[in-house]
Amino acid sequence: MKPVTLHVLSLTAAFAALACGESPDPTLRPTTGGTGGGGAAGVAGVGASGGTGGGGTGGGVGATGGVAGAAGSGGSGGSGAAPGFPTYPAVQYPTENPRTLEKELLGKVLFWEEQLSSDDTVACGTCHQGRAGGADPRSFQDGAIHPGPDGVLHTADDRRGGQGIRRCVQAGPVITYQNDPVFGSAPQVTRRKPASYLDAMFSRDLFWDGRARGQFVDPDNGQVAIASGGALESQVLGPLLAREEMACDNRTLSAVHTKLAASQPLALARDIPASMKAFIASYPTYPEMFQAAFGTPEINTRRIAFAIASHERTLTSNRTPWDRWNAGEANALTPRQVRGFQLFMVEGRCALCHQPPLFTDSGFPGIALEGDFHQLGFVAVDPAFDRGREEVTGEAHQRGAVKTPSLRNVGLREAGGLLHTGAGHGADLMAVMLAYQAPPNLTDNVDPLVTPLALTTEEIEAIIDFMRAGLTDPRAQAELPPFDRPKLGSEP
Ligand code: HEC
Ligand code: HEC
Repeated sequence: MKPVTLHVLSLTAAFAALACGESPDPTLRPTTGGTGGGGAAGVAGVGASGGTGGGGTGGGVGATGGVAGAAGSGGSGGSGAAPGFPTYPAVQYPTENPRTLEKELLGKVLFWEEQLSSDDTVACGTCHQGRAGGADPRSFQDGAIHPGPDGVLHTADDRRGGQGIRRCVQAGPVITYQNDPVFGSAPQVTRRKPASYLDAMFSRDLFWDGRARGQFVDPDNGQVAIASGGALESQVLGPLLAREEMACDNRTLSAVHTKLAASQPLALARDIPASMKAFIASYPTYPEMFQAAFGTPEINTRRIAFAIASHERTLTSNRTPWDRWNAGEANALTPRQVRGFQLFMVEGRCALCHQPPLFTDSGFPGIALEGDFHQLGFVAVDPAFDRGREEVTGEAHQRGAVKTPSLRNVGLREAGGLLHTGAGHGADLMAVMLAYQAPPNLTDNVDPLVTPLALTTEEIEAIIDFMRAGLTDPRAQAELPPFDRPKLGSEP
């Protein structure tokens, strides 16, 4: 049985208090200090009862205060006062990998570098794009279907993933394509849907099962290169050697270094943004770029990871309509979207896991023992295919649990299928809402927080409107800075 977590108690108390028209008991708030080092936010200041305006500063978790604010925001307020939910937190940098412009630019070049794959066909950015909410814009295509647990395409358990490299084997620089038993000579597809890489710097652990940890161990020498806060760096190691993503079988990291050293940066890309173009003009080879970023021309895995993570730390989608509304711009959300947000916070119980401002509980170590990984029971778990969090912890009660995704830009991910499966009950926002309304409970281990809801169709539509429109950063959608990018050689 999963431990009952502190924030559950807090929010339940808050719901109860709201029903009585009182402020939640401050003693029941989460005791965590949040990621930004601030305290939990206080009761928001626009309550119908003339709330106490206790705070909302400091980037704390503030779930309790958040609930109070949502419930109150339909009230008389109207004076232009900000709703007062915690605002988007400041990005933290690991001490071992401090922020520099050179690393950010090198990381951006590497992220869009198709030559980083064994056969020049796949960049990180092939599967992760702003316009797709940080996921793969091709996931809706037939070619993005994974056969799922039964291994047979076009059956009910199919999933939608990211399309990676064709099956191949590598000996030094020599590549031989092979016939894959499932995908043949077509690009292989990942078994899970690409998670968004936007706002990912706040996650304590990355991937749906959290296997990329904050402690980053340099695979070239086995030494701890980042003690904590380096999940982004740890994550980079996955795709470089993953057979279905960027690597042929038998690829080594030293082959990656050698290849980069001899590659002309972004030779396959076009429409390269000016800032990246200027960087390439100043440092026309990778050894020169690594010299600019790290002081010597050596290319190694740690440096690749440090640079890519540095770029990813610039990708803050913090200008959504919700952020503007929360900052006091009352018309940034429509009345229906504000209503949808209230329902999201209170009746829908969504903020038990999708807490503003990041709309996830991931990355807040103090808030819960295991509170960021949940088994919703929306998809049947096949232990031979995908055990979710259990694959990392070995804990049977976490079978099928996955990380709570941030809902920022979820509207942009909808077309490719939602949830870690991209299919089944996760096809679109309405399907997800109907699953929350009447959970199918296909499996055991289902999180006790997932209970049937009694929302009307109108209320469901308001919540969807809020999620689809209110949480999209227009810069991510239009791929404007910091989400700007070159066009890939593989793109039409
Ligand atoms: C073939 C498609 C593909 C490619 C190429 C790819 N990824 Fe991913 N990415 C995925 C999938 C699928 C997941 C989720 C996997 C899982 O959770 O098991 C993921 C997860 C992530 C995450 C974790 C997000 C989170 O919130 O947990 C980050 C960050 C990320 N990728 C960055 C990168 C970087 C950097 C590269 C290049 C070095 C890259 N990806 C290459 C498909 C891809
Ligand atoms: C018990 C914690 C929990 C609660 C409560 C919860 N969610 Fe989720 N949510 C999750 C987890 C975990 C996932 C990922 C599940 C998966 O991929 O299978 C998720 C996924 C989603 C997704 C898909 C996001 C994406 O990028 O694919 C949406 C949309 C969503 N939730 C909305 C909601 C709404 C709306 C509510 C309230 C009605 C809600 N959630 C309540 C934990 C929760």
